[in-house]
Amino acid sequence: MGSVKSSVEPDDAAFGDMDSTAPTTPDGSGSSSPVLRAEHYVDIVGFERPDLPQIMMSAVQDMARPVRNICCVGAGYVGGPTAAVIAYQNPHLRVTVVDKNEQRIRRWNSKHLPIYEPGLGDIVRIARDGSRACFLPPKETDDSNITNNSINDSGASVPARQPNLFFSTQVARCIREADIVLIAVNTPTKTRGTGAGSATDMTSFEAVTSEVAQHARPGTIIVEKSTVPCRTAELVQKTMAVHRPGVHFEVLSNPEFLAAGTAMKDIMHPDRVLIGSSTTLSGRRAAEALVGVYAAWVPRSRIITTNVYSSELSKLVANSMLAQRISSINSISAICERTGADVDEIAAAIGCDPRIGDKFLKAGIGFGGSCFKKDILSLVYLAESLDLDEVGEYWRQVVKMNEYQRDRFAKRVIKCLNNTLVGKKITLLGYAFKANTSDTRESPALEIIKTLLEESPKEIAIYDPCCNPVVVRAEIKALLKGQAALKEDGGAIEVYSNAYTACSSSHAVLITTEFDEFRNIPSKAPSKAPARAIAALQAAKKVDPRPSLYKPSETDILDLQKFLLRTAPAAMYPDSDPLQRYKPEPPCESDCPDCELIKTSGYSTAGNSSEDRKKEQLDWSKISYHMNKPKWLFDGKGIIDAKAMGKLGIRVESVGRVSA
Ligand code: NAI
Repeated sequence: MGSVKSSVEPDDAAFGDMDSTAPTTPDGSGSSSPVLRAEHYVDIVGFERPDLPQIMMSAVQDMARPVRNICCVGAGYVGGPTAAVIAYQNPHLRVTVVDKNEQRIRRWNSKHLPIYEPGLGDIVRIARDGSRACFLPPKETDDSNITNNSINDSGASVPARQPNLFFSTQVARCIREADIVLIAVNTPTKTRGTGAGSATDMTSFEAVTSEVAQHARPGTIIVEKSTVPCRTAELVQKTMAVHRPGVHFEVLSNPEFLAAGTAMKDIMHPDRVLIGSSTTLSGRRAAEALVGVYAAWVPRSRIITTNVYSSELSKLVANSMLAQRISSINSISAICERTGADVDEIAAAIGCDPRIGDKFLKAGIGFGGSCFKKDILSLVYLAESLDLDEVGEYWRQVVKMNEYQRDRFAKRVIKCLNNTLVGKKITLLGYAFKANTSDTRESPALEIIKTLLEESPKEIAIYDPCCNPVVVRAEIKALLKGQAALKEDGGAIEVYSNAYTACSSSHAVLITTEFDEFRNIPSKAPSKAPARAIAALQAAKKVDPRPSLYKPSETDILDLQKFLLRTAPAAMYPDSDPLQRYKPEPPCESDCPDCELIKTSGYSTAGNSSEDRKKEQLDWSKISYHMNKPKWLFDGKGIIDAKAMGKLGIRVESVGRVSA
């Protein structure tokens, strides 16, 4: 087992060893099943055997059926965007996203999508609502002499699209109709029972697996899209065997590597797509079917196939390694604060070494989000349950360092304010766990707020440009249950929809999310990128991406749409539809709660999308003018130039630098 292949290539050894049970197949599972035996006959001869019993051949046909219908269970941050891109790029497939959460499904079926990701709306509109036929006008530049494609020179026609992306609460029916079922439900850390605090809570995943087992047609390919512990595929196979003895299903692992805030870019242009399968021939065929779905837009060289357990474990390792880099640089920031070294200078110096690289070396208040911590803890639990305690302890330290860093920051705030927050107003700029997302799960901001609350401040003010204040208030209420946390309940926390009001009369402002709006210095290009590459990138933004193909791909059309919007005066396309491709969005009911929310708060449920929100940088002189002396600013994200702030009378404390 084990070599990583690009896409699915014939493997003589695997093809030759028909009787061996690959390690990725559960012991003896279905080995005596007529279905499996039939499958082996087809594997061996490569075509149908008329002499086989009908039941065997129909099962084999089921397994080899072409992919027409995909069901994704879980309409969350992963399931929704992934299914939307699959549908967008494969107009011939029917993709249905199902979820037991009716509110979520209602929103996916409306113009109020339940999550915010830049670019998500464009893709959902085309795939879910269908599109009109349109015409891609030819380039205005005179480059006809350098292309011999005369058809392109006169533009290209794009046919109308029928809707092929659906959102539904009818889980069982959609599973029954599917050729591939993607399971993309939540897999948080267990909070009680065996393994509480580190093991993965598989309740949702297991519930879906049993539903699939009960309703899927024989031969349906089951795909683990959720992040799951290593060897989950074996458990899925066992569940299938209990509910459907004698029926064979292939289980694939296809973990998602998207990052919140850049999800659409990550799915449209992935570094890699990882597909793990059983190493049997039928496992490889199932993998090939999924490869075919991704190959609609991902170059085959970026589609990696491995054995199923390698794929499962790769996802945990990827997140653990990324988090480890953050904890490593944060540990150095603590040394810097006591020695006079500057952590950003260190990151730049060590990042030049290609063996280290410059990514994920930004010191700050530590990582948040729904994945890093839980995936490291899942790895810790795996190691400990394999009696590899030292390995577990090594990875647990990454989480400990993260918590230490966050607490150190909160304590530094309290210490600078003379160890008392009584009568003082503290403002947090940023509540989401990272910029350009409304995802607030495991946000470091909340833990910092909890520590500050213990000091009985007069007020803790929160402002986040992407999060809906109404939603943040509800979340805080739920997370701090038992406490009168919000001002409206007699507590200290107030959530604002305006940064200046949030900072007014504040004794200290804390930057807890790296939104560009908060910077007083321009966002730096990656230090490793040579000036030439940066110039090329800037030039590329101005280059017309007009498809040079007679038949433009869906990616070409989307790129052209973005290019036209970016380069034309804003008034030219007030409906943001330069190609006149969109169909009208579904109308809302008169009592639509999301329309009501927008009316009352000015924000959508998914937060305040970048399309709507203003992105001007804050006027720090205005903020300074209205702050209370001695006007502290605690930069938890390394986005503030302390000297420039000093000129405005603001004292800055930054992570990884000695106190000013
Ligand atoms: P989420 O919590 O946003 O969405 C999960 C959805 O599954 C929810 O809408 C829930 O109602 C639904 N669900 C749960 N049980 C169900 C059932 N029995 N039947 C039907 N629907 C059910 O979760 P998210 O963030 O999309 O994560 C999903 C998986 O992807 C997790 O394993 C996560 O670790 C992984 N992942 C998440 C990433 C992220 O950035 N959020 C990135 C990469 C992987």
